Amino acid sequence: MIQIEHLTKSFGQRRVVDDLSFSVERGEVLGFLGPNGAGKSTAMRMITGFLPASAGRIRIGGHDIADAPLAAKRLMGYLPESAASYPDMTVNGFLLFIAELRGLAGDAKKRAVHRVVERCFLDSVLYQSIETLSKGYRHRTCLAQSLIHDPEVLIMDEPTDGLDPNQKHEVRNLIREMGKTKAVIFSTHILEEVDAACTRAMIIDRGRMVANGTPASLKAMSQSAGRVTLQVTGPEVTAVQAACATLAEASAVEAVGGKVRVSPKDKTAGAALARALMELAAREHWQVAELHAEEGHLDEVFRKLTVSDTVRA
Ligand SMILES: Nc1ncnc2c1ncn2[C@@H]1O[C@H](COP(=O)(O)OP(=O)(O)OP(=O)(O)O)[C@@H](O)[C@H]1O
Ligand SMILES: [Mg+2]
Repeated sequence: MIQIEHLTKSFGQRRVVDDLSFSVERGEVLGFLGPNGAGKSTAMRMITGFLPASAGRIRIGGHDIADAPLAAKRLMGYLPESAASYPDMTVNGFLLFIAELRGLAGDAKKRAVHRVVERCFLDSVLYQSIETLSKGYRHRTCLAQSLIHDPEVLIMDEPTDGLDPNQKHEVRNLIREMGKTKAVIFSTHILEEVDAACTRAMIIDRGRMVANGTPASLKAMSQSAGRVTLQVTGPEVTAVQAACATLAEASAVEAVGGKVRVSPKDKTAGAALARALMELAAREHWQVAELHAEEGHLDEVFRKLTVSDTVRA
């Protein structure tokens, strides 16, 4: 549904999106991650046809955004970073207006507005003017606008930004639900959203793709991936530590507080290490109070792969 080849954007001498290539199929939710200024919004603006690319090719459902912009845009819903709003329109008036722009009329128009009002929880503010809405409600109105024609492709720039925790949760569920039948790209700075909503995530740094994979495969790149923490009651922690060090699956073994932290020789073999530790505990007749393998931390991977704006400046 979304095919991107060698997408590049320069402003003057500065290349802010640098040779991005990827595709998103129906049933996929791709998370765009990256520090401030990485080029996420610029890439999304090009994908949705709001900004011409300096080089590269974008196809939406087979339609080239440069050659067939109308056909491509018809398939797409877009939640921009800072949406243009119509301050004196009511929420209802605005959504009816957008539905008309999307070619809906009569009952279909009313049904479409009703559907997004329900999905985005806008019932209580339907007849309020947009300028009097709180930030979160204004944001939800923009979200509703992007969904009005039930598009097959959804591009959302920080869809949960500024929402309260309940609404964040609802919007993540909504994205996950819509991702079952649509092709979705959304950007976020909230790394937990990768687990909550994405089938795949991409980390962008200074316009370039530095990682692209499933949430699990990205987390597995973390230093702590596969590490097993063990706590037993009874024996001295140093005795437990020494016994753990004899396992073929273990590399480093450290004592932290009353617990033992065992790193696997092979980061992908955390489960095998956990099993070996369980067997060891059974042989030694230890009473296990805690045993868990870490799947890795996305924030650690993010920090390793990206350079922050402040460091750059
Ligand atoms: N119209 C423009 N003219 C010049 N530079 C621009 C323009 N639009 C964006 N940029 C620059 O491109 C770079 C990427 O910006 P972009 O908004 O895509 O980042 P982002 O990844 O969305 O960041 P954030 O997480 O802060 O939203 C920034 O350095 C920005 O200043
Ligand atoms: Mg942005």
